[in-house]
Amino acid sequence: MSGARGATAAHGSSGAHGSSGAHGSVEILVEGETVAGRAGQTIAGVLLGSGRVAWRGAQQGERGVFCGIGVCHDCLVTVNGVEGVRACQREAVHGDRVEREVRG
Ligand code: FES
Repeated sequence: MSGARGATAAHGSSGAHGSSGAHGSVEILVEGETVAGRAGQTIAGVLLGSGRVAWRGAQQGERGVFCGIGVCHDCLVTVNGVEGVRACQREAVHGDRVEREVRG
């Protein structure tokens, strides 16, 4: 694992780590669009649940979840301004701001 990639350091700016919205739901902002998921889901889970299958640009094309266990780094996103967050490992926190990344 690579702590330098910010996988666990990108908690929300909403001030309440692990907080969720009403009825066990979370809402995150994906490229400015509000996307709802269930409390406890990873960011990748919320993205997949919204119909998104790819969210990172790479030379090989669009990438999303490949391994789902934190190894491949195909699912990297920027969360609350922190780059290189593995969407498959980071729990979605109500109010997170998620942006796609374009890299190698
Ligand atoms: S899908 Fe492989 S690290 Fe997230």
